Amino acid sequence: MTNPQDDPTKGHVRSLFSEEEIAERVTALAGEIAASEPNRMLFVIVLKGGFVFGADLVRALGREGVRLEVEFISLASYGSRLETSGEVQIRRDIEVAVSGRDVLIVDDVLDSGLTLKFAHELMRSRGASRVSIAVLVDKPEGRRTELEADYVGFTCPNYFVVGYGMDAAHAWRELPYVGVLEPHSSEAG
Ligand code: IMP
Ligand code: MG
Repeated sequence: MTNPQDDPTKGHVRSLFSEEEIAERVTALAGEIAASEPNRMLFVIVLKGGFVFGADLVRALGREGVRLEVEFISLASYGSRLETSGEVQIRRDIEVAVSGRDVLIVDDVLDSGLTLKFAHELMRSRGASRVSIAVLVDKPEGRRTELEADYVGFTCPNYFVVGYGMDAAHAWRELPYVGVLEPHSSEAG
């Protein structure tokens, strides 16, 4: 890091969606998912960013009486942070067969859509009977492929957001809210 002002692990995070707002949306999404009458749902959390949203959503679904199984998949899209190459690779796969299953893919952000399109097609190609997508944050301006999520917590402009599982250079995942990173200003601090 040459210029400390460019260091994404430093600076201040301006809150965009508070803990209370997130909890409300997670409960509402669980209600919508429960209303779709999932059958032995396979709940696939995309790592790493989806782990906090996934953990809250799975418990909200439990409160709704939805029975499910949890799996994890780790996907990486290559290229720089701002310009992905479009190539997605599996770093860690789920451990069960999806044939005939009702799959819900859960991730933090839907931006270009390349990661979730890959995950959706992967589950389809393995024979899932239904594949739905839930994301906490949708950034439609970033879309590079035709893909929409079935369940969206919040829609936001093309900001780089952090917190609630989402990172910038591995930092900020622990914040209980979602915010926008504001680099240190040399005037105000
Ligand atoms: P995609 O561009 O839709 O394929 O998103 C790829 C991945 O980039 C997401 O699953 C996130 O992990 C990450 N990502 C995209 N936008 C943001 C952001 O604003 N903050 C943190 N991570 C992001
Ligand atoms: Mg992700």
